[in-house]
Amino acid sequence: MANFTKTLAAKANQFDWKKSELSATEKRQFEKITQLGFSAVNDTAKIELKSNLEAELTSIYSTGKVCLTDFGKGCLELEPGLTDVMSNSRNPNELFAAWKGWRDQTGKKMRAKYTEFVNVMNEMIKFSGFNDTGEYWRSWYEASTFESDVKKLYDELLPLYEQLHAYVRQKLKNKYGTALFPDSGHIPAHLLGNMWSQSWSNIYDLLTPYPNAISFDITQKMKDKGYNVTHMYRVAEEFFTSIGLDKMPTSFWTKSMLEKPENRDVVCHASAWDFYDGEDVRIKQCTDVSQRQFRTVHHEIGHLQYYMQYASLPTIFRRGANPGFHEGMADIVSLSFQTPEHMHAIGLLDSIPNDQESDINFLMQMALDKIAFLPFGYLIDQWRWSVFRSDTTPNNYTANWWDLRCGYQGVSPPVQRTEQDFDPGAKYHIPGNTPYIRYFVSFVIQFQWHKALCDEIGYSGPLHRCDIYNDTRAGAKLRNMLELGSSKPWQDAMQVMTGGRNMSALPIIQYFTPLIDWLKEQNKEENIGWSASCPSNIPSPDQTNNNVRLSVSAETMFLIITLTKFC
Ligand SMILES: *[C@@H]1O[C@H](CO)[C@@H](O)[C@H](O)[C@H]1NC(C)=O
Ligand SMILES: *[C@@H]1O[C@H](CO)[C@@H](O)[C@H](O)[C@H]1NC(C)=O
Ligand SMILES: *[C@@H]1O[C@H](CO)[C@@H](O)[C@H](O)[C@H]1NC(C)=O
Repeated sequence: MANFTKTLAAKANQFDWKKSELSATEKRQFEKITQLGFSAVNDTAKIELKSNLEAELTSIYSTGKVCLTDFGKGCLELEPGLTDVMSNSRNPNELFAAWKGWRDQTGKKMRAKYTEFVNVMNEMIKFSGFNDTGEYWRSWYEASTFESDVKKLYDELLPLYEQLHAYVRQKLKNKYGTALFPDSGHIPAHLLGNMWSQSWSNIYDLLTPYPNAISFDITQKMKDKGYNVTHMYRVAEEFFTSIGLDKMPTSFWTKSMLEKPENRDVVCHASAWDFYDGEDVRIKQCTDVSQRQFRTVHHEIGHLQYYMQYASLPTIFRRGANPGFHEGMADIVSLSFQTPEHMHAIGLLDSIPNDQESDINFLMQMALDKIAFLPFGYLIDQWRWSVFRSDTTPNNYTANWWDLRCGYQGVSPPVQRTEQDFDPGAKYHIPGNTPYIRYFVSFVIQFQWHKALCDEIGYSGPLHRCDIYNDTRAGAKLRNMLELGSSKPWQDAMQVMTGGRNMSALPIIQYFTPLIDWLKEQNKEENIGWSASCPSNIPSPDQTNNNVRLSVSAETMFLIITLTKFC
Protein backbone atom coordinates (compact mmCIF):
# COMPACT_ATOMS: atom_id res chain seq x y z
CA MET A 1 0.00 0.00 0.00
CA ALA A 2 2.82 2.37 0.92
CA ASN A 3 4.53 1.56 -2.36
CA PHE A 4 1.35 2.14 -4.33
CA THR A 5 0.63 5.45 -2.59
CA LYS A 6 4.15 6.65 -3.21
CA THR A 7 4.19 5.66 -6.86
CA LEU A 8 0.93 7.51 -7.42
CA ALA A 9 2.15 10.62 -5.63
CA ALA A 10 5.37 10.65 -7.66
CA LYS A 11 3.36 10.52 -10.86
CA ALA A 12 1.07 13.32 -9.71
CA ASN A 13 4.05 15.46 -8.80
CA GLN A 14 5.47 15.19 -12.31
CA PHE A 15 2.74 17.64 -13.13
CA ASP A 16 3.12 21.16 -11.78
CA TRP A 17 -0.35 21.15 -10.25
CA LYS A 18 0.27 23.90 -7.72
CA LYS A 19 0.94 26.48 -10.40
CA SER A 20 -1.59 25.28 -12.94
CA GLU A 21 -5.03 26.65 -13.71
CA LEU A 22 -6.88 23.71 -12.25
CA SER A 23 -10.23 24.07 -10.51
CA ALA A 24 -10.33 24.01 -6.72
CA THR A 25 -11.67 20.46 -6.78
CA GLU A 26 -8.93 19.25 -9.10
CA LYS A 27 -6.28 20.85 -6.92
CA ARG A 28 -7.86 19.23 -3.93
CA GLN A 29 -7.53 15.88 -5.66
CA PHE A 30 -3.82 16.47 -6.24
CA GLU A 31 -3.34 17.61 -2.68
CA LYS A 32 -4.88 14.43 -1.36
CA ILE A 33 -2.99 12.18 -3.76
CA THR A 34 0.32 13.73 -2.77
CA GLN A 35 -0.39 13.64 0.98
CA LEU A 36 1.40 10.43 1.84
CA GLY A 37 0.66 10.11 5.55
CA PHE A 38 2.62 7.19 7.02
CA SER A 39 3.66 6.03 3.57
CA ALA A 40 6.09 8.92 3.11
CA VAL A 41 8.88 7.11 4.93
CA ASN A 42 11.31 5.21 2.71
CA ASP A 43 12.46 2.75 5.31
CA THR A 44 10.41 -0.36 4.56
CA ALA A 45 11.52 -1.93 7.84
CA LYS A 46 9.64 0.81 9.67
CA ILE A 47 6.56 0.29 7.56
CA GLU A 48 6.65 -3.39 8.34
CA LEU A 49 7.25 -2.79 12.02
CA LYS A 50 4.23 -0.54 12.24
CA SER A 51 1.96 -3.04 10.57
CA ASN A 52 3.32 -5.96 12.61
CA LEU A 53 2.83 -4.12 15.88
CA GLU A 54 -0.69 -3.19 14.90
CA ALA A 55 -1.44 -6.82 14.11
CA GLU A 56 0.06 -8.02 17.39
CA LEU A 57 -1.85 -5.48 19.45
CA THR A 58 -5.11 -6.31 17.74
CA SER A 59 -4.47 -9.98 18.18
CA ILE A 60 -4.05 -9.60 21.93
CA TYR A 61 -7.34 -7.76 22.00
CA SER A 62 -9.27 -10.16 19.83
CA THR A 63 -8.14 -13.32 21.62
CA GLY A 64 -8.63 -12.06 25.18
CA LYS A 65 -10.78 -14.34 27.34
CA VAL A 66 -11.82 -14.07 30.95
CA CYS A 67 -12.88 -17.10 32.96
CA LEU A 68 -15.84 -16.46 35.24
CA THR A 69 -16.13 -20.03 36.49
CA ASP A 70 -16.84 -18.84 40.03
CA PHE A 71 -19.97 -17.21 38.74
CA GLY A 72 -21.23 -20.29 36.93
CA LYS A 73 -19.82 -19.20 33.60
CA GLY A 74 -16.98 -20.51 31.48
CA CYS A 75 -14.17 -18.58 29.86
CA LEU A 76 -15.73 -15.76 27.92
CA GLU A 77 -14.70 -13.67 24.95
CA LEU A 78 -15.59 -10.01 24.85
CA GLU A 79 -18.49 -10.61 22.48
CA PRO A 80 -20.97 -11.83 23.24
CA GLY A 81 -19.93 -13.28 26.63
CA LEU A 82 -18.34 -10.46 28.64
CA THR A 83 -20.53 -7.86 27.00
CA ASP A 84 -23.59 -9.79 28.19
CA VAL A 85 -22.21 -9.98 31.71
CA MET A 86 -21.54 -6.25 31.82
CA SER A 87 -25.01 -5.54 30.40
CA ASN A 88 -27.11 -7.95 32.36
CA SER A 89 -25.41 -8.98 35.57
CA ARG A 90 -26.43 -7.06 38.67
CA ASN A 91 -23.93 -8.86 40.88
CA PRO A 92 -21.20 -6.29 41.64
CA ASN A 93 -18.61 -9.02 42.28
CA GLU A 94 -19.21 -10.60 38.93
CA LEU A 95 -19.15 -7.21 37.21
CA PHE A 96 -15.90 -6.47 38.96
CA ALA A 97 -14.36 -9.78 37.88
CA ALA A 98 -15.32 -9.19 34.26
CA TRP A 99 -14.12 -5.59 34.36
CA LYS A 100 -10.75 -6.33 35.92
CA GLY A 101 -10.25 -9.60 34.07
CA TRP A 102 -10.68 -7.94 30.69
CA ARG A 103 -8.06 -5.32 31.54
CA ASP A 104 -5.64 -7.94 32.83
CA GLN A 105 -6.05 -10.02 29.70
CA THR A 106 -5.76 -7.22 27.15
CA GLY A 107 -4.32 -3.80 28.03
CA LYS A 108 -1.82 -5.11 30.54
CA LYS A 109 -0.16 -7.26 27.86
CA MET A 110 0.13 -4.41 25.38
CA ARG A 111 2.09 -1.77 27.26
CA ALA A 112 5.56 -2.33 25.77
CA LYS A 113 4.30 -2.92 22.26
CA TYR A 114 2.13 0.18 22.43
CA THR A 115 5.10 2.35 23.39
CA GLU A 116 7.02 1.03 20.43
CA PHE A 117 4.00 1.54 18.19
CA VAL A 118 3.66 5.20 19.18
CA ASN A 119 7.35 5.81 18.57
CA VAL A 120 7.40 4.26 15.14
CA MET A 121 4.26 6.10 14.04
CA ASN A 122 5.64 9.43 15.20
CA GLU A 123 8.93 8.80 13.42
CA MET A 124 7.11 7.90 10.22
CA ILE A 125 4.68 10.79 10.18
CA LYS A 126 7.49 13.35 10.45
CA PHE A 127 8.34 12.50 6.85
CA SER A 128 4.96 13.92 5.90
CA GLY A 129 5.73 17.17 7.66
CA PHE A 130 3.71 16.62 10.84
CA ASN A 131 5.14 17.03 14.32
CA ASP A 132 3.33 13.99 15.60
CA THR A 133 0.60 11.49 14.73
CA GLY A 134 -2.11 13.41 16.59
CA GLU A 135 -1.44 16.48 14.47
CA TYR A 136 -1.79 14.33 11.36
CA TRP A 137 -5.10 12.86 12.54
CA ARG A 138 -6.48 16.30 13.39
CA SER A 139 -5.49 17.60 9.95
CA TRP A 140 -8.39 15.57 8.51
CA TYR A 141 -10.74 18.10 10.08
CA GLU A 142 -9.35 20.99 8.04
CA ALA A 143 -9.80 23.59 10.77
CA SER A 144 -6.95 25.26 12.63
CA THR A 145 -9.32 25.80 15.56
CA PHE A 146 -10.44 22.16 15.71
CA GLU A 147 -9.09 21.41 19.20
CA SER A 148 -10.67 24.49 20.72
CA ASP A 149 -13.89 23.94 18.74
CA VAL A 150 -14.45 20.49 20.23
CA LYS A 151 -13.46 21.76 23.68
CA LYS A 152 -16.10 24.47 23.37
CA LEU A 153 -18.74 21.90 22.40
CA TYR A 154 -17.73 19.72 25.31
CA ASP A 155 -18.04 22.65 27.73
CA GLU A 156 -21.49 23.50 26.38
CA LEU A 157 -22.66 19.92 26.85
CA LEU A 158 -21.16 19.31 30.28
CA PRO A 159 -24.21 20.61 32.20
CA LEU A 160 -26.38 17.95 30.53
CA TYR A 161 -23.96 15.21 31.46
CA GLU A 162 -23.65 16.43 35.04
CA GLN A 163 -27.40 16.19 35.54
CA LEU A 164 -27.55 12.69 34.10
CA HIS A 165 -24.53 11.62 36.15
CA ALA A 166 -26.03 12.85 39.43
CA TYR A 167 -29.32 11.06 38.77
CA VAL A 168 -27.66 7.78 37.78
CA ARG A 169 -25.27 7.88 40.76
CA GLN A 170 -28.19 8.23 43.17
CA LYS A 171 -30.12 5.36 41.57
CA LEU A 172 -27.05 3.10 41.64
CA LYS A 173 -26.42 3.92 45.28
CA ASN A 174 -29.96 2.79 46.01
CA LYS A 175 -29.36 -0.41 44.10
CA TYR A 176 -25.87 -1.40 45.26
CA GLY A 177 -25.54 0.44 48.56
CA THR A 178 -23.34 3.44 49.30
CA ALA A 179 -20.35 1.36 50.47
CA LEU A 180 -19.14 0.81 46.91
CA PHE A 181 -19.12 4.52 46.17
CA PRO A 182 -16.14 6.75 46.91
CA ASP A 183 -16.67 10.09 48.68
CA SER A 184 -15.32 11.97 45.70
CA GLY A 185 -18.63 11.83 43.83
CA HIS A 186 -17.41 9.37 41.19
CA ILE A 187 -19.38 6.36 40.00
CA PRO A 188 -17.44 3.05 40.07
CA ALA A 189 -16.80 2.22 36.43
CA HIS A 190 -18.03 -1.39 36.55
CA LEU A 191 -21.62 -0.60 37.48
CA LEU A 192 -22.80 1.23 34.37
CA GLY A 193 -23.73 -1.69 32.13
CA ASN A 194 -20.80 -1.36 29.77
CA MET A 195 -17.17 -2.49 29.81
CA TRP A 196 -15.97 1.11 29.34
CA SER A 197 -18.89 2.98 30.97
CA GLN A 198 -19.38 4.64 27.59
CA SER A 199 -23.07 3.87 27.17
CA TRP A 200 -25.44 3.31 30.05
CA SER A 201 -28.56 2.12 28.29
CA ASN A 202 -28.07 -1.46 29.46
CA ILE A 203 -28.94 -0.46 33.00
CA TYR A 204 -32.08 1.39 31.98
CA ASP A 205 -34.06 -1.05 34.13
CA LEU A 206 -32.35 0.39 37.23
CA LEU A 207 -32.94 3.97 36.15
CA THR A 208 -36.43 4.00 34.62
CA PRO A 209 -37.97 7.34 35.56
CA TYR A 210 -41.58 6.06 35.53
CA PRO A 211 -41.73 2.27 35.79
CA ASN A 212 -45.48 2.27 35.23
CA ALA A 213 -45.41 4.35 32.08
CA ILE A 214 -44.53 2.92 28.66
CA SER A 215 -41.10 1.41 28.37
CA PHE A 216 -39.16 1.46 25.14
CA ASP A 217 -37.19 -1.70 25.50
CA ILE A 218 -38.17 -3.56 22.35
CA THR A 219 -35.88 -6.59 22.62
CA GLN A 220 -38.63 -8.82 23.99
CA LYS A 221 -41.11 -7.54 21.43
CA MET A 222 -38.65 -8.32 18.63
CA LYS A 223 -38.34 -11.87 19.95
CA ASP A 224 -42.10 -12.22 20.32
CA LYS A 225 -42.53 -11.14 16.73
CA GLY A 226 -40.10 -13.80 15.53
CA TYR A 227 -37.38 -11.40 14.39
CA ASN A 228 -34.27 -13.04 12.96
CA VAL A 229 -31.01 -11.48 11.80
CA THR A 230 -31.92 -11.26 8.10
CA HIS A 231 -35.20 -9.63 8.96
CA MET A 232 -33.42 -6.98 11.03
CA TYR A 233 -31.28 -6.02 8.02
CA ARG A 234 -34.32 -6.01 5.74
CA VAL A 235 -36.23 -3.70 8.06
CA ALA A 236 -33.25 -1.34 8.31
CA GLU A 237 -32.76 -1.35 4.55
CA GLU A 238 -36.43 -0.50 4.08
CA PHE A 239 -36.05 2.62 6.19
CA PHE A 240 -33.36 3.93 3.87
CA THR A 241 -35.29 3.09 0.71
CA SER A 242 -38.42 4.74 2.17
CA ILE A 243 -36.61 8.09 2.12
CA GLY A 244 -35.30 7.52 -1.39
CA LEU A 245 -31.84 6.09 -0.71
CA ASP A 246 -30.63 2.86 -2.25
CA LYS A 247 -31.25 -0.83 -1.76
CA MET A 248 -28.32 -2.99 -0.71
CA PRO A 249 -26.70 -4.72 -3.71
CA THR A 250 -27.25 -8.46 -4.09
CA SER A 251 -23.63 -9.13 -3.22
CA PHE A 252 -24.18 -7.51 0.17
CA TRP A 253 -26.54 -10.34 1.11
CA THR A 254 -24.27 -13.10 -0.11
CA LYS A 255 -20.85 -11.77 0.93
CA SER A 256 -21.39 -10.07 4.28
CA MET A 257 -20.77 -11.80 7.59
CA LEU A 258 -23.96 -11.02 9.48
CA GLU A 259 -23.71 -13.72 12.12
CA LYS A 260 -20.89 -15.12 14.20
CA PRO A 261 -19.50 -18.16 12.39
CA GLU A 262 -19.41 -21.41 14.33
CA ASN A 263 -16.14 -22.77 13.06
CA ARG A 264 -13.60 -19.99 13.66
CA ASP A 265 -12.72 -17.00 15.80
CA VAL A 266 -13.57 -13.62 14.37
CA VAL A 267 -13.32 -10.05 15.58
CA CYS A 268 -16.93 -9.36 16.41
CA HIS A 269 -16.54 -5.59 16.64
CA ALA A 270 -19.13 -4.46 14.06
CA SER A 271 -17.72 -2.83 10.94
CA ALA A 272 -18.77 -1.63 7.49
CA TRP A 273 -16.55 -2.18 4.47
CA ASP A 274 -16.17 -0.45 1.13
CA PHE A 275 -14.46 -2.51 -1.55
CA TYR A 276 -14.03 0.56 -3.78
CA ASP A 277 -15.20 -1.10 -6.97
CA GLY A 278 -18.40 0.93 -7.01
CA GLU A 279 -20.53 -2.09 -6.11
CA ASP A 280 -19.26 -4.33 -3.38
CA VAL A 281 -20.08 -3.13 0.15
CA ARG A 282 -20.33 -5.43 3.14
CA ILE A 283 -20.97 -5.62 6.86
CA LYS A 284 -19.20 -7.79 9.38
CA GLN A 285 -21.20 -8.14 12.57
CA CYS A 286 -22.03 -10.88 15.07
CA THR A 287 -25.66 -9.89 15.07
CA ASP A 288 -28.16 -11.21 17.56
CA VAL A 289 -31.80 -10.29 18.00
CA SER A 290 -31.78 -7.34 20.40
CA GLN A 291 -32.58 -3.67 20.44
CA ARG A 292 -28.93 -2.71 20.82
CA GLN A 293 -27.89 -4.79 17.81
CA PHE A 294 -30.83 -3.48 15.82
CA ARG A 295 -29.42 -0.01 16.31
CA THR A 296 -25.98 -1.22 15.19
CA VAL A 297 -27.54 -2.72 12.05
CA HIS A 298 -28.91 0.71 11.14
CA HIS A 299 -25.55 2.25 11.96
CA GLU A 300 -23.58 -0.05 9.68
CA ILE A 301 -26.07 0.23 6.82
CA GLY A 302 -25.79 4.01 7.23
CA HIS A 303 -22.06 3.72 6.50
CA LEU A 304 -22.81 1.62 3.41
CA GLN A 305 -25.28 4.24 2.17
CA TYR A 306 -22.50 6.83 2.37
CA TYR A 307 -20.16 4.49 0.42
CA MET A 308 -22.81 4.00 -2.25
CA GLN A 309 -23.63 7.69 -2.58
CA TYR A 310 -20.04 8.71 -3.27
CA ALA A 311 -19.11 5.63 -5.31
CA SER A 312 -18.92 7.56 -8.60
CA LEU A 313 -16.34 10.07 -7.32
CA PRO A 314 -12.58 9.66 -7.93
CA THR A 315 -11.26 7.15 -5.39
CA ILE A 316 -9.42 9.77 -3.40
CA PHE A 317 -12.72 11.55 -2.64
CA ARG A 318 -14.55 8.41 -1.54
CA ARG A 319 -14.44 9.33 2.12
CA GLY A 320 -16.70 11.11 4.53
CA ALA A 321 -16.41 14.91 4.46
CA ASN A 322 -14.54 14.27 7.68
CA PRO A 323 -14.44 11.09 9.80
CA GLY A 324 -17.16 12.48 12.10
CA PHE A 325 -19.47 12.83 9.10
CA HIS A 326 -19.25 9.13 8.38
CA GLU A 327 -20.22 8.27 11.94
CA GLY A 328 -22.93 10.92 11.97
CA MET A 329 -24.44 9.48 8.79
CA ALA A 330 -24.34 6.07 10.38
CA ASP A 331 -26.47 7.26 13.29
CA ILE A 332 -28.82 9.70 11.62
CA VAL A 333 -31.56 7.23 10.74
CA SER A 334 -31.59 5.78 14.26
CA LEU A 335 -32.78 9.10 15.62
CA SER A 336 -35.97 8.65 13.61
CA PHE A 337 -36.09 4.91 13.82
CA GLN A 338 -36.11 4.87 17.61
CA THR A 339 -39.00 7.32 18.03
CA PRO A 340 -42.16 5.89 19.58
CA GLU A 341 -43.96 6.99 16.41
CA HIS A 342 -41.75 4.77 14.29
CA MET A 343 -41.66 1.84 16.69
CA HIS A 344 -45.44 1.89 16.60
CA ALA A 345 -45.53 2.14 12.82
CA ILE A 346 -43.51 -1.08 12.46
CA GLY A 347 -45.41 -2.93 15.17
CA LEU A 348 -42.81 -2.95 17.93
CA LEU A 349 -44.76 -0.68 20.26
CA ASP A 350 -48.45 -1.18 21.01
CA SER A 351 -49.45 2.46 21.21
CA ILE A 352 -47.98 5.92 20.76
CA PRO A 353 -47.60 7.52 24.18
CA ASN A 354 -48.84 11.05 24.64
CA ASP A 355 -48.14 11.51 28.32
CA GLN A 356 -45.18 13.31 29.83
CA GLU A 357 -44.08 10.27 31.84
CA SER A 358 -43.56 8.04 28.82
CA ASP A 359 -41.85 10.90 27.07
CA ILE A 360 -39.34 11.20 29.91
CA ASN A 361 -38.79 7.44 29.82
CA PHE A 362 -38.01 7.68 26.13
CA LEU A 363 -35.63 10.60 26.50
CA MET A 364 -33.90 8.86 29.38
CA GLN A 365 -33.21 5.88 27.20
CA MET A 366 -31.79 8.10 24.46
CA ALA A 367 -29.70 10.09 26.94
CA LEU A 368 -28.14 6.92 28.34
CA ASP A 369 -26.58 6.47 24.91
CA LYS A 370 -26.19 9.94 23.53
CA ILE A 371 -25.38 12.05 26.59
CA ALA A 372 -23.59 9.39 28.63
CA PHE A 373 -21.15 8.90 25.76
CA LEU A 374 -20.04 12.52 25.31
CA PRO A 375 -17.16 12.79 27.82
CA PHE A 376 -15.90 9.34 26.84
CA GLY A 377 -15.99 10.26 23.15
CA TYR A 378 -14.11 13.41 24.00
CA LEU A 379 -11.42 12.00 26.26
CA ILE A 380 -10.03 9.03 24.30
CA ASP A 381 -8.16 11.24 21.88
CA GLN A 382 -7.34 13.79 24.55
CA TRP A 383 -5.28 10.95 25.96
CA ARG A 384 -3.90 9.81 22.63
CA TRP A 385 -3.04 13.27 21.36
CA SER A 386 -1.19 13.80 24.61
CA VAL A 387 0.71 10.52 24.12
CA PHE A 388 1.64 11.41 20.55
CA ARG A 389 2.84 14.82 21.72
CA SER A 390 4.88 13.13 24.49
CA ASP A 391 3.06 15.09 27.18
CA THR A 392 1.98 11.67 28.40
CA THR A 393 4.88 9.21 28.53
CA PRO A 394 4.98 5.49 29.31
CA ASN A 395 5.65 6.39 32.95
CA ASN A 396 2.23 7.92 33.27
CA TYR A 397 0.13 6.23 30.59
CA THR A 398 -2.34 4.78 33.05
CA ALA A 399 -2.28 7.63 35.54
CA ASN A 400 -3.12 10.16 32.85
CA TRP A 401 -5.78 7.88 31.42
CA TRP A 402 -7.52 7.76 34.77
CA ASP A 403 -7.09 11.49 35.30
CA LEU A 404 -9.21 11.94 32.20
CA ARG A 405 -11.69 9.20 33.08
CA CYS A 406 -12.22 10.54 36.58
CA GLY A 407 -12.09 14.17 35.52
CA TYR A 408 -14.32 14.13 32.46
CA GLN A 409 -16.54 11.09 32.92
CA GLY A 410 -16.81 11.20 36.70
CA VAL A 411 -16.20 7.44 36.88
CA SER A 412 -13.53 5.84 39.04
CA PRO A 413 -11.70 2.51 38.89
CA PRO A 414 -13.14 -0.15 41.22
CA VAL A 415 -9.61 -1.19 42.19
CA GLN A 416 -6.32 0.68 42.39
CA ARG A 417 -4.61 1.01 39.00
CA THR A 418 -0.87 1.22 38.55
CA GLU A 419 1.56 1.62 35.70
CA GLN A 420 1.66 -2.18 35.53
CA ASP A 421 -1.79 -1.86 33.99
CA PHE A 422 -2.52 -0.33 30.65
CA ASP A 423 -6.24 0.31 30.69
CA PRO A 424 -6.39 2.29 27.42
CA GLY A 425 -5.49 -0.98 25.65
CA ALA A 426 -8.70 -2.58 26.91
CA LYS A 427 -10.65 -0.39 24.49
CA TYR A 428 -10.68 -1.63 20.92
CA HIS A 429 -9.73 1.63 19.21
CA ILE A 430 -6.39 1.91 21.02
CA PRO A 431 -4.84 -1.38 19.79
CA GLY A 432 -6.96 -1.04 16.61
CA ASN A 433 -5.44 2.41 16.15
CA THR A 434 -8.72 3.98 15.11
CA PRO A 435 -8.96 7.68 15.91
CA TYR A 436 -11.84 8.40 18.25
CA ILE A 437 -12.77 12.10 18.24
CA ARG A 438 -14.94 11.30 15.21
CA TYR A 439 -17.51 9.75 17.53
CA PHE A 440 -17.73 12.84 19.68
CA VAL A 441 -18.08 15.00 16.58
CA SER A 442 -20.69 12.61 15.23
CA PHE A 443 -22.79 12.66 18.40
CA VAL A 444 -23.01 16.44 18.13
CA ILE A 445 -23.56 16.88 14.40
CA GLN A 446 -26.10 14.07 13.99
CA PHE A 447 -28.51 16.17 16.04
CA GLN A 448 -27.79 19.19 13.83
CA TRP A 449 -28.67 17.08 10.80
CA HIS A 450 -31.69 15.53 12.43
CA LYS A 451 -33.01 19.01 13.07
CA ALA A 452 -32.20 20.11 9.50
CA LEU A 453 -34.01 17.09 8.03
CA CYS A 454 -37.03 17.61 10.28
CA ASP A 455 -37.15 21.26 9.24
CA GLU A 456 -36.90 20.15 5.63
CA ILE A 457 -40.03 18.01 5.91
CA GLY A 458 -41.93 20.78 7.67
CA TYR A 459 -42.05 19.03 11.05
CA SER A 460 -42.87 21.36 13.93
CA GLY A 461 -43.26 19.15 17.05
CA PRO A 462 -40.59 18.36 19.63
CA LEU A 463 -37.34 17.33 17.99
CA HIS A 464 -37.10 14.01 19.81
CA ARG A 465 -40.38 12.80 18.31
CA CYS A 466 -39.59 13.57 14.68
CA ASP A 467 -39.51 10.63 12.25
CA ILE A 468 -38.31 11.23 8.68
CA TYR A 469 -39.55 7.80 7.53
CA ASN A 470 -41.21 7.71 4.11
CA ASP A 471 -40.31 11.30 3.30
CA THR A 472 -38.16 11.52 0.20
CA ARG A 473 -37.46 15.22 0.78
CA ALA A 474 -35.28 14.16 3.73
CA GLY A 475 -33.53 11.54 1.60
CA ALA A 476 -32.88 14.03 -1.19
CA LYS A 477 -31.31 16.48 1.22
CA LEU A 478 -29.15 13.78 2.74
CA ARG A 479 -28.08 12.60 -0.69
CA ASN A 480 -26.92 16.11 -1.64
CA MET A 481 -24.51 16.05 1.25
CA LEU A 482 -23.40 12.42 0.96
CA GLU A 483 -22.59 12.51 -2.72
CA LEU A 484 -19.95 15.20 -2.09
CA GLY A 485 -17.81 12.61 -0.34
CA SER A 486 -14.64 14.45 0.64
CA SER A 487 -14.47 16.44 -2.60
CA LYS A 488 -15.18 19.64 -0.66
CA PRO A 489 -14.14 20.75 2.83
CA TRP A 490 -16.64 19.47 5.41
CA GLN A 491 -17.81 22.99 6.12
CA ASP A 492 -19.27 23.03 2.58
CA ALA A 493 -21.05 19.73 3.19
CA MET A 494 -22.35 21.06 6.49
CA GLN A 495 -23.69 24.08 4.69
CA VAL A 496 -25.56 21.91 2.18
CA MET A 497 -27.26 20.21 5.08
CA THR A 498 -27.80 22.91 7.70
CA GLY A 499 -27.20 26.23 5.97
CA GLY A 500 -24.38 26.95 8.47
CA ARG A 501 -20.71 26.04 8.36
CA ASN A 502 -20.02 25.26 12.03
CA MET A 503 -20.60 22.44 14.45
CA SER A 504 -23.19 23.42 17.02
CA ALA A 505 -24.32 21.96 20.33
CA LEU A 506 -27.69 23.71 20.23
CA PRO A 507 -29.76 21.00 18.50
CA ILE A 508 -28.66 18.24 20.89
CA ILE A 509 -29.41 20.57 23.80
CA GLN A 510 -32.82 21.36 22.31
CA TYR A 511 -33.55 17.65 21.83
CA PHE A 512 -32.89 16.83 25.49
CA THR A 513 -34.26 19.96 27.16
CA PRO A 514 -37.44 18.30 28.52
CA LEU A 515 -35.31 15.62 30.17
CA ILE A 516 -32.76 18.06 31.55
CA ASP A 517 -35.51 20.14 33.15
CA TRP A 518 -36.91 16.98 34.70
CA LEU A 519 -33.48 15.86 35.94
CA LYS A 520 -32.82 19.21 37.58
CA GLU A 521 -36.01 18.71 39.56
CA GLN A 522 -34.95 15.17 40.57
CA ASN A 523 -31.45 16.31 41.51
CA LYS A 524 -32.50 19.20 43.73
CA GLU A 525 -31.02 17.51 46.80
CA GLU A 526 -27.95 16.14 45.02
CA ASN A 527 -24.43 17.49 44.81
CA ILE A 528 -23.89 17.90 41.10
CA GLY A 529 -20.44 16.97 39.84
CA TRP A 530 -17.40 15.19 41.26
CA SER A 531 -13.80 15.90 42.23
CA ALA A 532 -11.44 16.59 39.37
CA SER A 533 -9.03 13.85 40.45
CA CYS A 534 -9.61 10.18 41.14
CA PRO A 535 -10.57 9.12 44.66
CA SER A 536 -7.59 8.38 46.88
CA ASN A 537 -9.50 5.70 48.76
CA ILE A 538 -11.15 3.15 46.53
CA PRO A 539 -13.81 1.12 48.31
CA SER A 540 -12.76 -2.48 47.81
CA PRO A 541 -15.30 -4.82 46.29
CA ASP A 542 -16.01 -7.94 48.34
CA GLN A 543 -13.75 -10.55 46.85
CA THR A 544 -14.18 -13.38 49.30
CA ASN A 545 -15.91 -15.73 46.83
CA ASN A 546 -14.05 -14.32 44.01
CA ASN A 547 -11.03 -16.36 43.15
CA VAL A 548 -10.94 -15.33 39.54
CA ARG A 549 -8.98 -17.48 37.17
CA LEU A 550 -7.91 -16.02 33.92
CA SER A 551 -6.63 -17.34 30.69
CA VAL A 552 -6.08 -16.22 27.18
CA SER A 553 -6.33 -18.33 24.12
CA ALA A 554 -3.44 -18.10 21.74
CA GLU A 555 -5.18 -18.17 18.45
CA THR A 556 -4.62 -16.94 14.97
CA MET A 557 -3.54 -13.39 14.51
CA PHE A 558 -6.01 -11.14 12.87
CA LEU A 559 -4.90 -8.60 10.39
CA ILE A 560 -7.72 -6.18 10.03
CA ILE A 561 -7.96 -3.37 7.58
CA THR A 562 -11.36 -2.28 8.72
CA LEU A 563 -12.54 1.03 7.44
CA THR A 564 -15.38 2.20 9.59
CA LYS A 565 -16.04 0.64 12.93
CA PHE A 566 -18.77 1.03 15.48
CA CYS A 567 -17.75 2.99 18.54
C1 LIG B 1 7.22 -0.88 -5.55
O1 LIG B 1 6.92 -2.14 -6.11
C2 LIG B 1 7.51 -2.39 -7.37
C3 LIG B 1 6.97 -3.69 -7.91
O2 LIG B 1 7.00 -4.69 -6.93
C4 LIG B 1 9.03 -2.40 -7.23
O3 LIG B 1 9.64 -2.61 -8.46
C5 LIG B 1 9.46 -1.04 -6.68
O4 LIG B 1 10.85 -1.04 -6.42
C6 LIG B 1 8.70 -0.71 -5.39
N1 LIG B 1 9.00 0.66 -5.06
C7 LIG B 1 9.34 1.04 -3.85
C8 LIG B 1 9.54 2.52 -3.67
O5 LIG B 1 9.46 0.27 -2.92
C1 LIG C 1 -36.35 -14.61 8.92
O1 LIG C 1 -37.53 -13.83 8.99
C2 LIG C 1 -38.14 -13.60 7.72
C3 LIG C 1 -39.28 -12.63 7.91
O2 LIG C 1 -40.03 -12.94 9.04
C4 LIG C 1 -38.56 -14.93 7.11
O3 LIG C 1 -39.13 -14.72 5.85
C5 LIG C 1 -37.33 -15.82 6.99
O4 LIG C 1 -37.71 -17.09 6.53
C6 LIG C 1 -36.61 -15.96 8.31
N1 LIG C 1 -35.34 -16.65 8.08
C7 LIG C 1 -34.89 -17.62 8.87
C8 LIG C 1 -33.57 -18.18 8.51
O5 LIG C 1 -35.52 -18.03 9.82
C1 LIG D 1 -17.85 29.35 13.66
O1 LIG D 1 -16.65 28.86 14.24
C2 LIG D 1 -15.58 29.78 14.18
C3 LIG D 1 -14.32 29.06 14.68
O2 LIG D 1 -14.50 28.54 15.96
C4 LIG D 1 -15.93 31.01 14.99
O3 LIG D 1 -14.87 31.95 14.92
C5 LIG D 1 -17.22 31.62 14.45
O4 LIG D 1 -17.64 32.69 15.25
C6 LIG D 1 -18.33 30.58 14.39
N1 LIG D 1 -19.50 31.11 13.71
C7 LIG D 1 -20.71 31.04 14.24
C8 LIG D 1 -21.82 31.58 13.40
O5 LIG D 1 -20.94 30.53 15.32
